[in-house]
Amino acid sequence: SRADKMDLVIQKIRSFPDFPSKGILFSCCIRMCFCSAGIDARGFLFGPLLAQRLGIGLALIRKKGKLPGPTVSVAYSLEYGKAEAEMQVDAVEPGQKVLLIDDLLATGGTLYAACELLRKRQAEVLGCLVLVQLTDLDGAQRLKPVSVFSLTEY
Ligand code: PRP
Ligand code: MG
Repeated sequence: SRADKMDLVIQKIRSFPDFPSKGILFSCCIRMCFCSAGIDARGFLFGPLLAQRLGIGLALIRKKGKLPGPTVSVAYSLEYGKAEAEMQVDAVEPGQKVLLIDDLLATGGTLYAACELLRKRQAEVLGCLVLVQLTDLDGAQRLKPVSVFSLTEY
């Protein structure tokens, strides 16, 4: 029933007082049976669509500083500058199988960092799914032995 479904959602909501600043109760992190991970920011356009279509959960991998509570983070470099990816420690279960979703594979730095995050939490990366792969930049090579699935290649 609808009430049962609402109960299920309510059980999954976690609250963090005083994040991101004092007096704010941050409570929008819904935890389900995660199996796909979307990468901030453009990966968030596609990760949720796939998770919903497959009926699986979604873990959020974010740019550093956005997530409350205990997190793991990995620094990486982009074509222009540096960044740091972060995930809540309990976003995935140890041993859980995870599919990583992003819009684009260029150098592979972003997805490599995401793989590192999941490895830190003992999750198993089944593969990376992207809409576009820029083949000249050899990102797929960098991600090996993790496989890349792309819908288009340039
Ligand atoms: C872009 C793109 C990919 C990444 C690919 O993200 O969305 O995530 O670059 O590059 P890479 O394979 O060389 O790591 P970016 O961090 O630029 O911005 P976004 O927050 O808009 O996703
Ligand atoms: Mg991105």
